[in-house]
Amino acid sequence: MKITRTLRTFAISALLVSLTFACAPNSNGEAAQTPGAGGAGAAGATDGTGADTSTGATTAGGADSGGDDYVPDAATGLAAAYSDYFPIGAAIEPTHLTSVPGILEAEFNHLTAENRMKWGNIEPTEGNFTWTGADQIADFARERGWKMTGHTFIWYRESPNWVFKGTIDDIKPRLKAHIDAMVERYGDVVDNWDVVNEAISDGAGYPVRDNPQYDEDVLYWAFEYAKQALEAQEAGSSAGKLYYNDYNVNLKIDSILPLLQTLADRGAQIDGIGLQAHVRTDWPSVADLRSTFEKIVDAGYKIKISELDVTVYNDYPPPTYALTPAPEVELTPELDATIGQRYGELFELFREYKDHITSVTMWGVSDDHTWLNTDPVPGRENYPLLFTDEHLPKQAYYEIKDF
Ligand code: GLA
Repeated sequence: MKITRTLRTFAISALLVSLTFACAPNSNGEAAQTPGAGGAGAAGATDGTGADTSTGATTAGGADSGGDDYVPDAATGLAAAYSDYFPIGAAIEPTHLTSVPGILEAEFNHLTAENRMKWGNIEPTEGNFTWTGADQIADFARERGWKMTGHTFIWYRESPNWVFKGTIDDIKPRLKAHIDAMVERYGDVVDNWDVVNEAISDGAGYPVRDNPQYDEDVLYWAFEYAKQALEAQEAGSSAGKLYYNDYNVNLKIDSILPLLQTLADRGAQIDGIGLQAHVRTDWPSVADLRSTFEKIVDAGYKIKISELDVTVYNDYPPPTYALTPAPEVELTPELDATIGQRYGELFELFREYKDHITSVTMWGVSDDHTWLNTDPVPGRENYPLLFTDEHLPKQAYYEIKDF
């Protein structure tokens, strides 16, 4: 039974819900549009400085605010509601462990380090690992018996330049050393690794990106070293754990599958495909997602929903699909309901594919900490997650929990 709520914490203004979030979907499937377009991740540090800052986080709210009639309770939370379906994950920074500990504890049972395991953060210079943040998140998961996603080895953003200098013979030992170190430290708590992130570009026909990170040898050896590191820990333990991850997978799937086939033909083990799912309220359609799921399943891969959030803006409108920042809107009850409806239809689809989906991860917890407050329009409020800036549940929370 669905429970309908309104957001008492928000003034019901006479402001009409802006149509900016409901621009026509990309009908030709050509130009990319979502936050992922042009490369998700605002900072894109590639100089090994360890910068990341892809969240636009603020610290509003402090600890869980409670209030309303929401009381975090693991017995009735999301993870419990989905115990027969799939783990419910959240991508977090160490700050979440003190800003929303109650929500984490009550609603989730899987974690991704939003930034702390990215190469540029964790090994900014060769052989020098900064484990602290990732360790804090991993320990929080371990203490609760939860698993994590290891995010990520190969990515063209937020990875240091020193890794990919020289020939493949120069690169291979760096890859192996990094992957060995990561698997040694987190192999016990990570149940799936994003071995490769975002190899496919947005260009016509969605070719592989022209970056040294996506050289076929690099991709092959990343999967191979990941498998070897896991197998060295425990025979058979690599099974089901190695993923390719990308955004706009519904547009890119016909490029992703041949790329993975090429790597598999060389002997790479690839177990699944992560759909980041940085989606809009009106795009992509459930039908498009379903047909993408079907292609993935037909090709023999597992599916994970790795970075789910729902932007209320379309900043890449037709016909040009060029960045055209949409004006900021307020989170009215109507908009809250629209976001909720979207979450509801997405989770209905996910439940339908539960035998193929290994986890569903939200890219954040509450709207005060999301990269979408920064990217692609710095300072513009967005409302992509399940909890408000004040850490109260939105309609979306109830839509996906009560089914
Ligand atoms: C991509 C990356 C994530 C994150 C998001 C947005 O989707 O995979 O790590 O950076 O962009 O911040």
